[in-house]
Amino acid sequence: MTEVGAAQHNNHEPNSLADSIVGNNEQPAPDVQVAIKIQAAQDEPAPRVNVSFVNVNYTVPLPDGSTKQILHNVHGLVECGQLTALMGPSGAGKSTVLDILAGRKSVGQIEGEILYAGASLSASKLKRMVGYVEQSDTLVPELTVRQMMLYAAAFKLTTNGEDRAARVDEIIAQLGLESCKDTKIGDTLNRGISGGEAKRVNIGLSLIPSPPVMFLDEPTTGLDSHIANEVVAILTTLAKDRAVICTIHSPTARSFNLFNQVLMLKDGRNIYSGRVTEIAQYFSNLGCTPRASDASLVEWVVEVTSAKEDANNNLNLSPQYTKSIGNAYEKRLADTVATAKQQQVHWDDEKSRIRKPSLCHSIFSLIRNRGVSMLKDPNWISPRVMEKIFLSVFSTMICECTVIAEGG
Ligand SMILES: Nc1ncnc2c1ncn2[C@@H]1O[C@H](COP(=O)(O)OP(=O)(O)O)[C@@H](O)[C@H]1O
Ligand SMILES: [Mg+2]
Repeated sequence: MTEVGAAQHNNHEPNSLADSIVGNNEQPAPDVQVAIKIQAAQDEPAPRVNVSFVNVNYTVPLPDGSTKQILHNVHGLVECGQLTALMGPSGAGKSTVLDILAGRKSVGQIEGEILYAGASLSASKLKRMVGYVEQSDTLVPELTVRQMMLYAAAFKLTTNGEDRAARVDEIIAQLGLESCKDTKIGDTLNRGISGGEAKRVNIGLSLIPSPPVMFLDEPTTGLDSHIANEVVAILTTLAKDRAVICTIHSPTARSFNLFNQVLMLKDGRNIYSGRVTEIAQYFSNLGCTPRASDASLVEWVVEVTSAKEDANNNLNLSPQYTKSIGNAYEKRLADTVATAKQQQVHWDDEKSRIRKPSLCHSIFSLIRNRGVSMLKDPNWISPRVMEKIFLSVFSTMICECTVIAEGG
């Protein structure tokens, strides 16, 4: 069973755990420059929600009847006001952690305590509180950027059309998408917006209901380093008034500096939790292979954490983590959670803040948006009309031939 509970902060002050272990109010490195300007978020105020998780285990059934444990006592804290990177080699369990925190796992057994601002949340409440950006883009190629966002807004908001359009325009401005808002999204055959713009549109879709928590699975994968830096820069802006965590395999040196916190996993176990600025010291102190002179910090971190045990001076990073900072981190996490439990957000108020449109409204929106756009699209409508004409002519000819043959 999954237990969902909490940690809330009603002001921007750091909590004790953040101060002493993961750090707070950490500013991005001053030398980091990004090419785009992002307007400050104008979202309606959402509660400041921290997400904490302790002793999370996840086991899946295998086809041969046995089971496989994927996560082993994983813990961490995702704080409002902080951009957190969930890192680790491929197969470490990053996407699994994200899915479990967002209540998106329907297979397998989950154990542990997952806490959202002092309350136990059901999967349906989690869906409203968490904006989730999938690794692959889920956009409709025939629609323009603005149409796509209006289409999604019709499903996510119950406000009237004008208000929805205002919210969409606000997000378009916030994400710097004005120049391409009337460009078709397109696909591999019919080119439209760029990969970086598509990623920003995806982020925009999840922002529509102003979620207090955002999860992103590999938001920079497949993007070039310049665009990847832009995307991470956007996330730092979004993290000013919400908790944002994203999985990232190997960030660029610049974008790594934009993160405040790192949770690092290997083989489904914690191997580091803390500030970005302290990670180099941590792995050096453990005795990992020293950093080569031509390697950036993040390249070295990825290298030592992906290396096999014997390549890393025989270090087993997970037990080392537990011995060095893991136990202390967990104890302080428990203290923070205990305090947060006494300051619960009124989730029923939140429920009314982000309402889900009715089924009728959703079906109507689907037909209006998809139906009309499909009817207007010659690539969709022409083959279908031609097919019907061809079949009608063909069946009429068969009938005529049959009548003539029988008559004859
Ligand atoms: N349903 C499942 N059945 C079997 N193995 C799974 C299942 N889901 C995930 N895994 C395994 O768990 C590990 C972690 O997966 P994942 O969270 O996707 O890793 P990451 O995102 O860090 O690359 C991988 O080895 C993957 O093959
Ligand atoms: Mg993954």
